[in-house]
Amino acid sequence: MIPGYLPFLAPQADRDAIIAEHHRRRQWAEQDKKGFLRYRQPAARLARFPARHVDCRGPEVVIGRADELDEQQRRQVEDDLRRFMPWRKGPFAVFGTAIDAEWQSDRKWQRLAAALPDLEGKIIADVGCNNGYYMFRMTAAKPRMVLGFEPTIQHFYCFSALNAMARRDELHIDLLGVEHLPWFSLSFDVIFLLGIIYHRPSPVQTLRDILGALRPGGTAIVESQAIPGDDPVALFPADTYAKVPGTWFVPTGPCLVNWMRKAGFAEVELFCSHPMSDEEQRRTPWMTFESYSDFLHPDDPGRTREGYPAPWRVFVRGRKKG
Ligand SMILES: C[S@@+](CC[C@H](N)C(=O)[O-])C[C@H]1O[C@@H](n2cnc3c(N)ncnc32)[C@H](O)[C@@H]1O
Repeated sequence: MIPGYLPFLAPQADRDAIIAEHHRRRQWAEQDKKGFLRYRQPAARLARFPARHVDCRGPEVVIGRADELDEQQRRQVEDDLRRFMPWRKGPFAVFGTAIDAEWQSDRKWQRLAAALPDLEGKIIADVGCNNGYYMFRMTAAKPRMVLGFEPTIQHFYCFSALNAMARRDELHIDLLGVEHLPWFSLSFDVIFLLGIIYHRPSPVQTLRDILGALRPGGTAIVESQAIPGDDPVALFPADTYAKVPGTWFVPTGPCLVNWMRKAGFAEVELFCSHPMSDEEQRRTPWMTFESYSDFLHPDDPGRTREGYPAPWRVFVRGRKKG
């Protein structure tokens, strides 16, 4: 079977490469090994409960009302939802079970919403979509198709379970990474790259790949962990940054703007920047591991554990020339 999002891509997209990788990764995900079954089995059980009521307009993505299920079914749903812990992005309410995730993702969505182009009828990519929280929020604007790129098995099955219940047919996910964008030439009107670029060893190349996957006139929305400051510089941590491994370059807002311009974007604008807070990212009953406050220096909240400047978040928009 070919992926359902394929007909929406541009003629220039490398369909053979996409189909081959799609099948390779699906086969990998369908292994009968513990690390895969632990997510695949609860996802399959949750898929038996299509929701009648779905509401993606508010801070909490609502999938099903409590009274759509009986008590035993509700307990089973809650138990299976817990198998996707730790929940990083949310909140969700699924048949009456409120999922308070580590991140209050609505706050990021509100900052983005103010700067978004009209999403109605658009072909969109959310690269590194996690459990799809922002994809569900996008549905309120009636996009034509949203494809989430997400190579992590836990998040892939979590989104698959949520959308099997929510049945938003315009939402798709594939086990792909940002590195596969070159196969998607000229395909998207809007690409979201949220919380990803500081994990890339070559951030400008990643931005060029985004530019290549946009249609002429398309928009990129890039959000990043950042260091505070007005100089166009990036921190290159020796090892972790705020205890997060795999962090390469942590830019200031002006540095991210320069990366975007040098990658070839026009009309580049830094539309929001703010310090991170332990109100927005924190431990909850659905994410019981360390969170933001554990990443800061115990004697100086202005520094990370490693002694670097404490994180900000920056938001940049850029357009591909039409
Ligand atoms: C820091 S989270 C950001 C999630 C979400 N975009 C947000 O802003 O809230 C990074 C996400 O990227 C995913 N990821 C990991 N490797 C990736 C890759 N090569 N390409 C795209 N996403 C990747 C992770 O599984 C995770 O869901």
